[in-house]
Amino acid sequence: MRLRLVKKNVVLFLMMSLILFILYYSKFMLTIESGVLDNVPHKGTQDDDTNTFNYGTVLQMRKSVYDSNYRQFIQNADKFAGDPEVVIVVQVHNRPAYLKMLIQSLEKASEIGKFFVVFSHDYFSEEIGDLVKGITFCKVLQIYFPYSTQLYPNEFPGQDPLDCPRDISKEDARKTECLNAEHPDAYGHYREASITQTKHHWWWKLHFVFERLKVLQGYKGFAVFIEEDNYILPDFFSFFKSMTNLRDKDCVDCDVLALGNHDGVSQFAELSSKTEKSGWMSTKNNIGMGISRELYYKLMGCNNEFCNYDDYNWDWTLQNLSGTCIKKPLKVLVACGTRVLHTGNCGLHQKEACNSEVAQQKVDAALEKVRTALFPQKLTLTNHGSVEHKPHMKNGGWGDIRDHILCANYAARL
Ligand SMILES: *[C@@H]1O[C@H](CO)[C@@H](O)[C@H](O)[C@H]1NC(C)=O
Repeated sequence: MRLRLVKKNVVLFLMMSLILFILYYSKFMLTIESGVLDNVPHKGTQDDDTNTFNYGTVLQMRKSVYDSNYRQFIQNADKFAGDPEVVIVVQVHNRPAYLKMLIQSLEKASEIGKFFVVFSHDYFSEEIGDLVKGITFCKVLQIYFPYSTQLYPNEFPGQDPLDCPRDISKEDARKTECLNAEHPDAYGHYREASITQTKHHWWWKLHFVFERLKVLQGYKGFAVFIEEDNYILPDFFSFFKSMTNLRDKDCVDCDVLALGNHDGVSQFAELSSKTEKSGWMSTKNNIGMGISRELYYKLMGCNNEFCNYDDYNWDWTLQNLSGTCIKKPLKVLVACGTRVLHTGNCGLHQKEACNSEVAQQKVDAALEKVRTALFPQKLTLTNHGSVEHKPHMKNGGWGDIRDHILCANYAARL
């Protein structure tokens, strides 16, 4: 009898412990989660002064993402103490071979010590992290997109197993009661997580750079947005400076600096010192974009329009805002001789497979071609007036209201 009572108590005790443990654990996880969302500071850990990232499990990665974004560890800060004179923000996914080339281009850029380079990741791997950690020649910060599909492998913003398949009809979707049955895109397709990620990351990053980066709070200049498969030319810094001066003198209503274009370098010698102003065109001016705080505020004024527009491309989305939600069409000051090359050859439209060695050879040839025409003494400006832009068909891929809501929330969280 006594023994049975004891046994019963033990079982009871064990069950209570288990419940308490689960409650405690889930509260702990919730704290981390809401910490990620609300930027609530929490106690530092021993690695306060280092940029360690734990790649072990999804939960550890989420925690590292939150900690790193909160801590904002600036690599090489002691070596390069002055305020940054040019800010470059790189959106990085998962192409280390191309990222490596970009880093080499930075290393070769003149006055690189005056740069501040931010790497914004949506894919977390030791290989990519180590590439960036290896940089010794300027101030560097790594930031991490907290709603990466990698961090949510089985739920939104990743792909939920209960999401509707892309090509199912709305009728069938309703019958199967899949999660987003009511929200296909303009072409009747359902959400694919991997397709939506780039636009999310782009918008989050814009907000994070201008509102959250402590080190940029007093920065009044342009931040130049590039991608991991871009390559900057050696005179980037002096060209950027000249272009900024030119804008302040002769084109104060230019919203954007386009330091790159997609025309290649075959005419570089003639074009090196030329700039022009025109209306912003997504297909032409989406590479090496210099964005100022003023433009950032203009864009955020159209937060809902950006986030609800059914196009998974951030650049086509901006195109639609230009002249609609942003009343005055965006104006851009363009470098006719590009200072940002595009090395990526894995795109959807390229026939040849990804081959970073081929890309490297092309870059080397381009560098040789432009060498004698870099560092122009003085820039010239041609006015092309406002280019008429016909309204474009939206591309779809952004019909799910969960995307609209998540996207609109980046700007709401301060
Ligand atoms: C922007 O999108 C809206 C809605 O699809 C459309 O009515 C409008 O014509 C578009 N404007 C431009 C400039 O593309």
